[in-house]
Amino acid sequence: MVIKNVTCEFVHHPIALDCRHPRFSWEISADENNVYQTAWQIIVRNADFGIMWDSGKQSGADSTGIAYNGHPLQSAAKYDYRVCVWTNTGYQLQSDICSFETAFFDPSEWCAGWIEPDPLPQLPENPLLTAQKECYKTLEALERGESTEMKLEGEIFEALPLEPYDPAVQMRTTFSSSQKCSHARLYVTSHGIYEIKINGKPVSDTWLDPGFTTYDKRLKYQIYNVDGLIVPGQNAIAATIADGWYKGKIAIGRGCDYGEVPGLLLQLELTYADGSRKTICTDKDWKYSYDGPVRTADLFLGEIYDARKINGDPSLPSYDDSSWLPVRTDKTSAPVPEAQFTPQVRVFREIPAYSILTAPNGDTIIDFGQNLAGVLRVQITEPYGTEITFEHGENLDKDGNYFYCFSGTNKEQKDTYICGEQDHEVFEPHFTYHGFRYVRVIGGTGWKKEDFTALAISTDNNVTGSFRCSDERLNQLQSNICWSQRSNNISIPTDCPTREKAGWTGDVVVYGATALYNQDMTAFYEDWLKSIRIEQRDNGHILGTVPQIKSYVQQAYAGSLGWGDVILTLPLQLFHLWGDRNVLSDNYEAMGKWMEAMVTAADEVPSPDLSGDENQHYLINTGFHFGDWIIPSVVNEEGFTDGPASAFLTMNYADTSLLAADADMYAEVSELLGYSENAEKYREYGRKVRRAFEEEYVSSEGHLGQEMQGNYILALKHHMVSPEKEPLLAKRLNDLVVQNGFRLDTGFMSTPHILDILCQYGYSETAWKVLLQDECPSWLYEIRQGATTIWENWDAVRPDGERADCSYNHYAFGCVGDFLYRRVLGLQNAGTGYDKILISPEYSCPLSWAEGSFHSINGMIRLKWAKDEKDIVFSGQIPANTCAVIELPDGTVKDIGNGKFEIWAKL
Ligand code: BGC
Repeated sequence: MVIKNVTCEFVHHPIALDCRHPRFSWEISADENNVYQTAWQIIVRNADFGIMWDSGKQSGADSTGIAYNGHPLQSAAKYDYRVCVWTNTGYQLQSDICSFETAFFDPSEWCAGWIEPDPLPQLPENPLLTAQKECYKTLEALERGESTEMKLEGEIFEALPLEPYDPAVQMRTTFSSSQKCSHARLYVTSHGIYEIKINGKPVSDTWLDPGFTTYDKRLKYQIYNVDGLIVPGQNAIAATIADGWYKGKIAIGRGCDYGEVPGLLLQLELTYADGSRKTICTDKDWKYSYDGPVRTADLFLGEIYDARKINGDPSLPSYDDSSWLPVRTDKTSAPVPEAQFTPQVRVFREIPAYSILTAPNGDTIIDFGQNLAGVLRVQITEPYGTEITFEHGENLDKDGNYFYCFSGTNKEQKDTYICGEQDHEVFEPHFTYHGFRYVRVIGGTGWKKEDFTALAISTDNNVTGSFRCSDERLNQLQSNICWSQRSNNISIPTDCPTREKAGWTGDVVVYGATALYNQDMTAFYEDWLKSIRIEQRDNGHILGTVPQIKSYVQQAYAGSLGWGDVILTLPLQLFHLWGDRNVLSDNYEAMGKWMEAMVTAADEVPSPDLSGDENQHYLINTGFHFGDWIIPSVVNEEGFTDGPASAFLTMNYADTSLLAADADMYAEVSELLGYSENAEKYREYGRKVRRAFEEEYVSSEGHLGQEMQGNYILALKHHMVSPEKEPLLAKRLNDLVVQNGFRLDTGFMSTPHILDILCQYGYSETAWKVLLQDECPSWLYEIRQGATTIWENWDAVRPDGERADCSYNHYAFGCVGDFLYRRVLGLQNAGTGYDKILISPEYSCPLSWAEGSFHSINGMIRLKWAKDEKDIVFSGQIPANTCAVIELPDGTVKDIGNGKFEIWAKL
């Protein structure tokens, strides 16, 4: 029996803790059954100060999220700690010695100052400012009641000149080290995205640092352990900084503009064996050059790399920088940076090319067999000066030619390499990323598939879940879901790695439950919630995208139900996942403000003569909300799914249900935190919303005034009608699904619940037909079409072979993953942090077996069931210090404690 997975703030040996009361967690791994922790103790020490915290022997089963409660932690210091555990079986266990390090607690510890190159010529006025002015004028006119033709941001930007693309800037300095150093830490952030090398070696294997935050309000710095990189004598350090999210063109392809000049803030702290220290900072002694090989780099457009510009390695002390210029040091305006201790972006898979195709039109196309987010690594043996371009796309067109659907501004996903002097060169762009399965290569000759590798990148959140079953198509679906999750968690949760790369909040509302099965997202989501709080408007609105995309000018005012709800859904999911109330209290104020904003939104009535009608004040029937976004039957003139039309069509029904759901969630959180008055107030509010919904929108036969599958699903999910009417609505929903040939007609907000609702109201046969349907629109239709990620639109590839202009890597509709784990496999959290586990699959499921695992904060849960017509056999393992029950087919509940189990039951 051992203590395993000891973490501090969910990380093994973190070196960048920015908090004074970090939380400890551990697991007990036992071979025997029914092991429970009876007591624990944590001892934290520091080499200089001795014992900092001895918790003493504390009785109880707590093993997650235990906050440090000792002497104040020092800034930039290292601590060792050890956990002891006592069990009911008489064991006393001790963990290995673990460690954590703190970041700079006080801004004054930054002796470094920002350094910048001289600015390159930019446009006289940033187009973003012009676009903002134009949009504000229109909105003000609308507010005055003047009818005005509303121009969309896209059209406004189109008429404005393009911001120039700048080469990546390089910065360097040299320094001496009198002796070998025993401890070296690098603290660094930038405006733009950076890579740092010391003495020819990269300081980390992470990408796209410092990540995406609303830089004028929040900027993160990273800390690296560079113990092994510093040598006695002369050393050099060099940075390359490209536009990234700071200056690059994201989302609509324009002006996500936090500034026009890149910058670097860096501090290197060296500690020697004799205790002496040396600090190297960004200061006036650094030099810069724009003359490096990265000629332009943009997250959307791609990178142009001119290998003819390589003239040695600036991170080597011997590099001749006589042509470089001194940096400027007069930059001051940036928020105080905060340390990042959440996972960073890394390459998680290298995929060799699957084949090289010659397309019908003669193009050379590399197929990696898997859609992903990342970049290419290519081996090149071409003469000096040869120019080769690599264009990245997610699909081929129906004839098999290269197809890239996003033709708007700056969306090319095109990298260019110009060959240098070496016989053999390797191109691997680091300052961009693309969504792709296919790459069209233009230029070069004699390509072999061995020349190409795709590097798939993602924020390094640990994988926690696995699911497999007897239907291979569902296994492919699970794979597609996981790939879309990986591709869309890159510094922030994004909608897609191609068109927008934006932190759309609603997508997490839809997909969050599934995400939390597949990977440990706790730190990543808690961090993003912080950005959400920072960016909440004064009037309580939470915007559609966080970080805010400034070029979405029209969205800078109001949030949408379903999207802003993330402030309620995500903290509650995280709380249930591992039981720490802090995630609720940290977000409580923001939840309250959002709730009030939505109460105000509902209070508005469509016309003054309705103001005396009470119900009208509890319905969402004014303003704009995204409704049940992207319903397949709501199509545009070309016959493809039309998101905005779905929104306008379903807004009143879908969003009024979501308003009631918000009130319930806020009441639940209020109750959990002990604010019972608020809980009662919002329960009552929810009742009023429901009464208005039922009186205004539901007929006596239980039909909705607006008959879409999603409206019924959301009305049932959130109990918008009186209990006696629910079966009528459920029957009507079932009829609609049957009439639609067991095919989905659901958008973002209702899709996560369709299968649950059908099962819950006695239509499980319909639910299985929907899940296993492979005609369009359905999950398995995508699989039949060869999809390797989840599509944004159900009909991204139509049965007639036409391709839609949409993303082919959008995790939202992968939300069915939650149902696969929870109801197909039957693995459910019945407590907090899976301290109580419920095994309860839907026994009507037509599969013959399912197996899976979930690494909870309390340890690894494994489960398999296999059945024939008569019997079902369960087997698996439940972690120590938790307990599980199985709900058997006859309705009885069997206690299985913890440890290995095998159980047989009659069906
Ligand atoms: C994004 C979605 C997002 C939506 C808002 C789209 O362009 O890709 O995923 O939630 O806009 O409705």
